[in-house]
Amino acid sequence: MKISRRSLARGLAAAGTETLKVTARVYGDGSLPFTFTKGRDSQQLSWSNGRGDVDGEGSYDRMHGSTWDKPGCTSPAKSTKKIEIAKPIPARGEKMRRAIDWFATLASLALVAAGVCAAQSVIRPGEPWLDSRGQRIQAHGGGITVWKGTYYWFGEDRSQANDPEKRYVACYLSRDLVHWKFRRQVLVLADPEHLGPHWVLERPKVFANPSTGKFVMYAHLDDAPYKLARVMVAVSNRIDGTYTYVRSFRPLDEESRDIGQFVDDDGSAYLIFESRPTKGFFLAKLTGDLMSVEKTSFIPAPLEGGALVHYGNLYYVVGSHMTGWRPNPNVYATAPALTGPWTEFKNLAPPEANNYDSQSTMLLKVKGSKTTTVIFMGDIWRPRELWDSRYVWMPLEMDDGSMHLPPPQLWTLNVKTGESAIQANGK
Ligand code: DGJ
Repeated sequence: MKISRRSLARGLAAAGTETLKVTARVYGDGSLPFTFTKGRDSQQLSWSNGRGDVDGEGSYDRMHGSTWDKPGCTSPAKSTKKIEIAKPIPARGEKMRRAIDWFATLASLALVAAGVCAAQSVIRPGEPWLDSRGQRIQAHGGGITVWKGTYYWFGEDRSQANDPEKRYVACYLSRDLVHWKFRRQVLVLADPEHLGPHWVLERPKVFANPSTGKFVMYAHLDDAPYKLARVMVAVSNRIDGTYTYVRSFRPLDEESRDIGQFVDDDGSAYLIFESRPTKGFFLAKLTGDLMSVEKTSFIPAPLEGGALVHYGNLYYVVGSHMTGWRPNPNVYATAPALTGPWTEFKNLAPPEANNYDSQSTMLLKVKGSKTTTVIFMGDIWRPRELWDSRYVWMPLEMDDGSMHLPPPQLWTLNVKTGESAIQANGK
């Protein structure tokens, strides 16, 4: 980021007024964390683009020395951003100190910018994750679909403003898996099958059909006591367009509650679903049109939150025990093929850690030019305030059949090289 002399002069002249404006140039993918020094006041920040539209805003609490990631800047292109820093009008005599503060802030911005032009992307497990509007990401129990080099995150939208009679799926896009641009609520569904009050739509997953260019959403559909146990299918011609409800069914004629998605290296797409009467997971390959499934394999383990990844020469499956919204130690098993044989299940993390209060939802493989990172995507559920549920995304430690979930810490990811790194002081 460059701060021009004119902007500096303008900043000085403006010190002591309510709003300071700085024009900054944002490089790289724009994932630019702004770090301020400790011990200053808190302040409100907002960003506007060249046309004057505000494309990101938030607050930064200097007292706690935290960093504030600028949402809204997901463009991979260079762009000029106007940063407006609203400051309280200082008391008389404070003006000089404020002006000095202002220069210090500019200097730290410039320093930070110089150091992060390579666009460091920090993931903060368990912390509120903001989208491009500065709003909490609502993609619980979600899934990631990769389409034309872009990541799309779909999930349960539990926003407080939602109509309680309807169920919502939100869609976000990202090129770095850290900064997410809100696209829209791609599914806004009224009770489709007379399921009654408190009907359930959970864990939506979207599959892309490269041959038809169509997109199919699966989700767990249920009534309040979770007796229906079906999947619903909805379709769209655009990945982030409006999805139209088609039907619901029991895959393979089996009860189906939690679902997961998996796309193998050859592009084959699979639905993972938990079937209580059979006490296990089914892996079911999607048919060519993605509208139905055929049996691939059955894993005899009464687990939910099923997720799968193909890493090295092995398939790894992860699941949680059935304790409702409450977390429990998640487990994993491996097999040389989807059809097995599967090993015994082992703990993903020390059992006393209770999976760091999270429940598995997906395993995402990021294969880059240098290495491959597998991300554990989990949900920290807050059942009384589902809108406030959080995410635990962490890079898994994987080695020839073993898989370990490290404690949640700040970490960085480079999707181009596939490299991930836990930050030294990553708490
Ligand atoms: C656990 C499941 O994984 C969640 O998706 C949700 O269905 C809760 N159970 C409901 O208790």
